Amino acid sequence: MDALKCDLLIVGGGAAGLRAAVAAVGVQPDLDIVVVSKVYPMRSHTVSAEGGTAAVLRDYDSHDLHCFDTIRGSDYLADQDAVELFVDTAPKEVLQLEHWGCPWSRDRDGRISVRAFGGMSVKRTVFASDKTGFHMLHSLFQHSLRFARIRRFDEWFVTSLLVDDGKCVGVTGLDLATGRIQPILAKSVMLCTGGGGKIFPFTTNGNIKTGDGMAMAYRAGAPLKDMEFVQYHPTGLPGTGILITEASRGEGGYLFNREGERFLERYIPGKMELGPRDILSRAIISERQAGRAFEDRHGEYVHLDLTHLGEKVINEKLPFVRELASKYVGIDPVYQPIPVRPVVHYMMGGVSTANDGSTPLEGLYAAGEVACVTINGANRLGSNSLTECLVFGGFAGEAAARHAQSTGLVDSGRVRAAARKEEQRIEQGFLHREDGTERISGLRGEMQTAMEKGCGVYRTRDSLLETTRELAELRERFADVRIDDRGKVFNTDLVAALELDFMLDVARCIAGAALTREESRGAQARVDFPERDDEQFLHHQLSLISEEGPRLETQPVTITRWAPEERKY
Ligand code: FUM
Repeated sequence: MDALKCDLLIVGGGAAGLRAAVAAVGVQPDLDIVVVSKVYPMRSHTVSAEGGTAAVLRDYDSHDLHCFDTIRGSDYLADQDAVELFVDTAPKEVLQLEHWGCPWSRDRDGRISVRAFGGMSVKRTVFASDKTGFHMLHSLFQHSLRFARIRRFDEWFVTSLLVDDGKCVGVTGLDLATGRIQPILAKSVMLCTGGGGKIFPFTTNGNIKTGDGMAMAYRAGAPLKDMEFVQYHPTGLPGTGILITEASRGEGGYLFNREGERFLERYIPGKMELGPRDILSRAIISERQAGRAFEDRHGEYVHLDLTHLGEKVINEKLPFVRELASKYVGIDPVYQPIPVRPVVHYMMGGVSTANDGSTPLEGLYAAGEVACVTINGANRLGSNSLTECLVFGGFAGEAAARHAQSTGLVDSGRVRAAARKEEQRIEQGFLHREDGTERISGLRGEMQTAMEKGCGVYRTRDSLLETTRELAELRERFADVRIDDRGKVFNTDLVAALELDFMLDVARCIAGAALTREESRGAQARVDFPERDDEQFLHHQLSLISEEGPRLETQPVTITRWAPEERKY
């Protein structure tokens, strides 16, 4: 079995992965860096980010205010040293990206524009119209092309991490064009694979977001942190889940119920449409429960009204919102309100990392949504995540490069044997097996329903136990999964099976951690424990692999200058 080799292997070609690759070149220009991605990098999920990226750029704003907003938004579960580092580095990253070609929107006086976003005290979200992720990713991608030492393996699916003697020494990759499975050995490995919104039935996430990196790290023995916290974005389109950016509310949009009320007056009068996502999503569901939502064949929804903004503002600031609403629900927001409902958007939890992206598994690094540093705690503020990809992608790229400088490549018989075993698992377990009866789509649909029902916006002990039971049963049935395509070339059936395998592990971790956290904090709303309980739960939860499923440990939260207090807006 041939092995490919490099110094630093980055899995994922979105904002965090590309930023990390460029940072690594900065540490050592001749470092051999490979970015392996299951899609062409410009199709990474970063491309669909819309509203903006947060950074303190204006005199009226301050480091402390951005820190405070982020920490309050996190319901005091963010590590405050990480938040301070993040806020401090954010402006440099945003300006650097401009130098790399990112066309930030500008005010008439030439300054980079900023807009309001949920949970932020002042306007600090930098944007490029409402296609911010698209422009950021293009700029990063084009900049990365300047460096010949960054090689790309596009359309390779990484199936496992190779671990030897307690160190991560590479991965096994499936070349989708040929079907070949090969070890890729590296001195440092970094995961930048994003989150796993597809574990739920209704999400803003692209189909590629299946928790791959989280599951691989977990299987390799690295802990996942704070997995219970899954963010619902308040405004997705009914039917598809397509994101209608928070920038629509940042630019002045209103939410109305069926009775024509700006119902947020009842829930968060101090912030209204610019409240944080956890509170707004719960408010919309409460309106639904009170019978004040609209309803059609796509379910219940409320209205997002932009008509008072006028065509000029909508065309200039929110052209993509106009395009999406017109194409997907036949509504022109210049004249009519847009139907919206809460939709799974982001995972606050992920692979537990230090501030430099290192994980407890030597040689393994992570950055972006797959990682949990943690600056987001129990609830992320909109527009902090693109910045997180830049800031911690940069730090992790540098740290992983330095680690690669300090160690040798491990290419032993044991590692080759582990890679061969992985190849056999895939060939015998999926490609060559004749007796499977379970359909991928059936199992995936049942998993998504179980997660939404028992582990969605509102949770109880009983609902979580039921979801956990269903997930265990699905895991057993997955052993009997059948794929129809036995071919080698772009076998999307095989990839879907491997992705489902990953999602089942991650789902188990989410439900397990949500069950153990007997309090309500940020995105975790326990109906049976409605209050935040700092006495017992002001800590992170780590999920570690064990025979019986995820085993939980706790880890203290780092508090520096902001003592936990009631979260008021
Ligand atoms: O609504 C949005 O544009 C999403 C932004 C984010 O999740 O940061």
